[in-house]
Amino acid sequence: MVAQGSCTVIVGCQWGDEGKGKIVDVLAEAVDIVARYQGGANAGHTVHVEEDEFILHQIPSGVLHEGKRCLLGNGVVLDIRQFFEEYDALIARGIDIAGRVGVSSRAQLLLPYHRLLDSAVEDSAAQKIGTTGRGIGPAYEDKAGRRGVRVADLGNIEELEKRVQLARDRACGRLEDLGFAVTESLDLAMEEALGLGDRLLGLSTDVGRDISKAILDGKRVLLEGAQGTALDLDHGTYPFVTSSNTTAAAAASGTGIGPTLIDTVIGVVKAYTTRVGEGPFPTAFDQRMDEHIRTLGGEFGATTGRPRRCGWFDSVLARYAAQVNGLTGLAVTKIDVLDTLPELQIAVGYRMPDGTVSDEFPADTWSLSSVEPVYQTMPGWEEPTTEIRNLEDLPSNAQAYLDRIAELTNTPVRWISVGSKRNQIIDVS
Ligand code: IMP
Repeated sequence: MVAQGSCTVIVGCQWGDEGKGKIVDVLAEAVDIVARYQGGANAGHTVHVEEDEFILHQIPSGVLHEGKRCLLGNGVVLDIRQFFEEYDALIARGIDIAGRVGVSSRAQLLLPYHRLLDSAVEDSAAQKIGTTGRGIGPAYEDKAGRRGVRVADLGNIEELEKRVQLARDRACGRLEDLGFAVTESLDLAMEEALGLGDRLLGLSTDVGRDISKAILDGKRVLLEGAQGTALDLDHGTYPFVTSSNTTAAAAASGTGIGPTLIDTVIGVVKAYTTRVGEGPFPTAFDQRMDEHIRTLGGEFGATTGRPRRCGWFDSVLARYAAQVNGLTGLAVTKIDVLDTLPELQIAVGYRMPDGTVSDEFPADTWSLSSVEPVYQTMPGWEEPTTEIRNLEDLPSNAQAYLDRIAELTNTPVRWISVGSKRNQIIDVS
């Protein structure tokens, strides 16, 4: 099989919130299809088009470009009610999405009991994860436990009812064990969700077939990841991770295409680092810098509004992400947030408790909690970058900062984002 078109994966290389939505929006202009491959409504992809702000949770960020086909792959857990809220809100804001959005018939449904369980488990856990409360963990547990319900199942009402009843009863049993009362509102919410079944079936398709065919026909495809490498179920800071594989390899399994169809993997990194939720964060700022950068960068969760913890750029994590994802290029976002700083730090290694210095990202969170970053100090540029559109016009200290990131990650920088708007981008591809 010889691929004629192209297939690019956009993947987050930190703890999510790297600005993937913006990069997907920029790159979507030149492609035919954009598809999500994992996660669910825990994602919050913020896109600014002129003066308008859109926060997309489940529908791929490419939807804001006229005529692009937007697909949700089998790897996602789809919250039907929230999906149609988002879908209808886009229509209400004048986005013509008729015939453009498709959902894999193999995607898992995230049902109202998943959300209840997510909050209940989190409330009663001794060790909290700080989830988004969107039901993600319980939905993927049902998938792995083989009691999930998929989009295609909506076509067989009798079987669907049996399957949903079993999963619902099990979830309610767990809720009661945790001391949470199950009220009638759950049944109402279930009715409302399943009442949208026919509408969802109307959008269902074989996403793997559609994307493979498109690539072979010479079309260009973007596969959009959610969250980030350090939140990957296998490769992230387990157990402080999300419940899906967020990394590039999952783009093939989560859409149903063969991995050989993917030719480009772009890793998105913020010019500094942020993290929301619990778990170790070696390069976290002290309180004063944390507040300063959070304010400058508007670092509050797009889904939950929670303040994000902020820190210096961590090249140990970024290099690890480059390896796990097989990156072919980087997109560095929010460089403008650093415009006023006189001096910057980049973590180039971790000092371990025994005094040795390592450039490897440890597998266990206890080690990661106890490392001391080894920093390289770099001069700031103290000039605004938001109006710059060419690499050579960037202040030389900003260029040196980006060069160092490329060197430390062994990955060329292809895009630099200098603001939230679509046109605030430097293309060095
Ligand atoms: P869950 O995905 O809601 O189960 O949350 C698990 C962990 O992933 C928590 O630390 C969340 O804060 C984090 N997380 C989930 N989605 C996102 C995201 O889109 N951006 C940043 N962090 C996220």
